[in-house]
Amino acid sequence: MELYCDYRPRSKRKIVEVEHNQKWMLTASMFIAVVADVKCRIKDQSDLYIDENSSEEEVKLIIRDTAIAIENMLLEADYLGLGTCWTGWYRQKEIRAVLGVPDDKYVCGVICVGYADEKPKQRPRRALEDMVYYDTWGNKR
Ligand SMILES: Cc1cc2nc3c(=O)[nH]c(=O)nc-3n(C[C@H](O)[C@H](O)[C@H](O)COP(=O)(O)O)c2cc1C
Repeated sequence: MELYCDYRPRSKRKIVEVEHNQKWMLTASMFIAVVADVKCRIKDQSDLYIDENSSEEEVKLIIRDTAIAIENMLLEADYLGLGTCWTGWYRQKEIRAVLGVPDDKYVCGVICVGYADEKPKQRPRRALEDMVYYDTWGNKR
């Protein structure tokens, strides 16, 4: 996994352009793009290309592991008193071009980091009974 941190206004604007122009992103002080090194577990596939349409199992595991790392970064940022938003509304081809990320890597997310200007209430959460099965699939208590 690699991290690409940027806080320069020009680079941020270019990222926002490929993120469907979500202008609110520019209010964050810093972006962190988290990039999965797709070949870290698949050494023998030199021609591997991964984008939104890929289905390879190992690739999914690599992206899963990187997503876990992102989630931990969000938790740590929260612990440090920072606000974050995980964004991913881009096409790989476009975000790679903006960041100079090679085609054999996968941009798993761009995290906006800053100081929150609001303290939203906790959002309603689904009740556990609605989504938990016990022992076997479909079995509710
Ligand atoms: C993979 C992924 C991509 C996302 N991309 C965006 C995005 O581009 N723009 C956006 O406003 N929220 C995006 N979100 C949603 C926010 O990160 C966040 O999960 C959502 O606002 C709910 O936050 P909350 O659970 O703290 O209320 C994305 C979430 C995930 C997991």
